[in-house]
Amino acid sequence: MALYALGDLHLSFQTNKPMDAFGKVWRHHERKIRKYVSRIVKPEDTLVLTGDHSWGRKLEECREDLAFIEALPGRKILLRGNHDMFWDAKKTDRLNEEFQGRLFFLQNNFASYQDYALVGTKGYTFEGPFWLDRQGRIMGWDEEKEQQAKKLVDRELDRLRTSFQKAEQAGYRKFIMFLHYPPTNILEKTSPFTRIAREYGVTAVVYSHCHGESRFSDSIRGSFQGAEYLLVSGDYLNFRPALVLP
Ligand SMILES: [Fe+2]
Ligand SMILES: [Fe+2]
Repeated sequence: MALYALGDLHLSFQTNKPMDAFGKVWRHHERKIRKYVSRIVKPEDTLVLTGDHSWGRKLEECREDLAFIEALPGRKILLRGNHDMFWDAKKTDRLNEEFQGRLFFLQNNFASYQDYALVGTKGYTFEGPFWLDRQGRIMGWDEEKEQQAKKLVDRELDRLRTSFQKAEQAGYRKFIMFLHYPPTNILEKTSPFTRIAREYGVTAVVYSHCHGESRFSDSIRGSFQGAEYLLVSGDYLNFRPALVLP
């Protein structure tokens, strides 16, 4: 039994959104997903998909993408990404009813894996615009947008805390924390998300959303404040699921 994670499948079986334009790694990426997930993940394993599942704008445009995910081996747990328009956070219960026993949607709830609680939310972080000088050094940024971002961070932090509290009330003391957005941006060393990870003593923080070579080092990777930080964007992993726990 093992716990794996992979993010940003960006499927588009029902929409016209070829990903090839984003680089070679995205060429027939759905074939790679099927091949590698089938090779790595066993039916008794758990696979957390950390958001940006589908380009469909509503559930009816995501049916084939979700069916593709459903057909992958293992128990599948889904997190909301910024592109998952089909998933209204307030209607997560409805999705969980509809897909019961097939897919689990992680939002204001938690899932369990052995004696761990899997908690999570989309998260958020200020992504600019930043003003750079000729050497690429940050000289400033859009402060109004930064203020707006703080509100979104607060809302996501509330949702994450709900997830932690429900797991704690159910008796869990060990946690794996999932985010779609990176826990920190290029200006930050820590954030409300790293602080809550520390507060609950999480074993690992797993996130994705960062695409392309130049973005892979935007946030924390490796050991930090007692937790292991893992970037699991599909293109970063060439669509091979990352092992989170054996
Ligand atoms: Fe993405
Ligand atoms: Fe994203």
